[in-house]
Amino acid sequence: MFQLSNEGKTKVLSKMKRYETKESAIIPALYIAQKENGGWVSDEVVLHLSQLMDIPAVRINEVFKFYTMFNQAPVGKHHVQVCCNISCALNGGRELAGHICKELKIGFNEVTDDERFSVSKVECLGSCSTAPMMQVNDKYHENLTPESAMNILRGLK
Ligand code: FES
Repeated sequence: MFQLSNEGKTKVLSKMKRYETKESAIIPALYIAQKENGGWVSDEVVLHLSQLMDIPAVRINEVFKFYTMFNQAPVGKHHVQVCCNISCALNGGRELAGHICKELKIGFNEVTDDERFSVSKVECLGSCSTAPMMQVNDKYHENLTPESAMNILRGLK
């Protein structure tokens, strides 16, 4: 059964005090819990937050399922999100995403056997002038070519 660490619980409770309503702390709480749960939010995570925050699980699920920055299934240690929206698509973003999957020998939303990588296609990440781009965990990588993207990924520990 998932439980936040004591530090995680303290952070969530402090976020709840910061806002006018406790529901406003759902997004930061999901960020904290996702990080502690290896990069994704399971049903157990939602239940734990529901009990900790005294908010019905359905309310937490409404927020969690709306935002794509919260992962609904396990992801790799390095979660690669390739933007395939208009600017990136016009500059090869979709081909880039396909190339990365081919090199890593996985499909979209799959995890490599060694659990190091997962790849997903995402909508605009707000870096259109440096298309095509990808986000790996919290970091942006811009003006990519298939080669430069793979060099970045191969350089990750
Ligand atoms: S379209 Fe790719 S970052 Fe905006």
